[in-house]
Amino acid sequence: MARGSLLYAQSGGVTAVINATASAVIQAARRHRVQVLAARNGILGALREELIDTSAEPIASIRALAHTPGGAFGSCRYKLKAPEVDRAPYQRLIDVFRAHDVRWFLYNGGNDSADTALKLSKIATEFGYPLACIGVPKTVDNDLDVTDCCPGFASAAKYTAVSVREAALDVAAMASTSTKVFVYEAMGRHAGWLAAASGMAGEGRDEAPHIILFPERVFDEAAFLAKVKETVARVGWCVVVASEGVHGPDGRFLAEAGTVDAFGHAQLGGVAPHLAEMVKSRLGYKVHWTVPDYLQRSARHLASATDLKHALAVGEAAVDYAMEGRNAVMPVIVRTSDAPYRWKIEAAPLERLANHEKKLPAGFVRPDGYGITAAARRYFAPLLRGEAPPPYGRDGIPAYVALGNRAVRKALPDWAG
Ligand code: F6P
Repeated sequence: MARGSLLYAQSGGVTAVINATASAVIQAARRHRVQVLAARNGILGALREELIDTSAEPIASIRALAHTPGGAFGSCRYKLKAPEVDRAPYQRLIDVFRAHDVRWFLYNGGNDSADTALKLSKIATEFGYPLACIGVPKTVDNDLDVTDCCPGFASAAKYTAVSVREAALDVAAMASTSTKVFVYEAMGRHAGWLAAASGMAGEGRDEAPHIILFPERVFDEAAFLAKVKETVARVGWCVVVASEGVHGPDGRFLAEAGTVDAFGHAQLGGVAPHLAEMVKSRLGYKVHWTVPDYLQRSARHLASATDLKHALAVGEAAVDYAMEGRNAVMPVIVRTSDAPYRWKIEAAPLERLANHEKKLPAGFVRPDGYGITAAARRYFAPLLRGEAPPPYGRDGIPAYVALGNRAVRKALPDWAG
């Protein structure tokens, strides 16, 4: 084994393919003969010295991670305070890293996690501890800057577009005597990427979804209701896709659950029932609605093959960067051609990704604000393309793996933080 260990951790909301990235990281590191430790529940596991020895896992289990959703080592939403405010957690992390000879830290997450990795790389330099911090991208929200797309997004996008198309067939069949309006809620608090991807379910004016509500646009109740009414009159039924981040002119989300996470982000969910009630009470139509919530980010059975390739590629590249001695970078996906779809991986400085949020480009939203443009279709099409189903067991259920996750013996006193 090479000297030093590589610590891998998962952070934020998990995706259908984040474990594929973990699989690629572990396999690439094994090829370099580097021991991979995993932190239990992201950075919290590092602080608590709750580390997992992945070398105890058989290669078949590591390979099976590539088709298993969820976060195999546990994830977390946990914000480290700035080092100027509280230096203790950073000191603790360096102590833990030193105790386990961690020389490379790979943090698999979104823009908040890129910020954590960046802060840690700076602090390690200040402490004179030799540590390379590499961010590894993932998020179904697709809101990381610089990268063309984020692993995890394309699979959730495919789930969204497919589900909307299928549900629309149901509504169309029922509309003459029953349901006239169906409302689907897509994740994405500030960026409407997933809502926009639903537009791939149909193309013509009368095909579902007929109305997409983006968080980038201010919700106008009267205009929305008029559009629903006009669609039902013309088509006979209407499918609405609303981003969970839809908000009114005052900036307040239509669907705040009243809970706030460690980053101060409000927990969302419930815009679909809110809109359904509005349509029912104001227009009198029978409405069905759905909040797919975690289903959309865990639907590995409907993963995009392109997404899986991206997820594996960023994992491998992250290990390559670590072995090359790079620090404070993230492998990002660079699209070089739409058709045929071509892409490559490049290293981007974490400074350019940390805390930046990429919104849906204005050119992806139709001028009326309720649908997507041809440019958006060109962007989404290759991401949704290709199927990568998991193997199924005899019971007809996917054969997902559960790792043994053997704990590494602690070397330090418990963390008091
Ligand atoms: O991972 C991003 C995201 O899926 C958002 O779209 C959603 O609002 C949020 O996570 C939910 O987070 P949590 O699982 O922590 O409630």
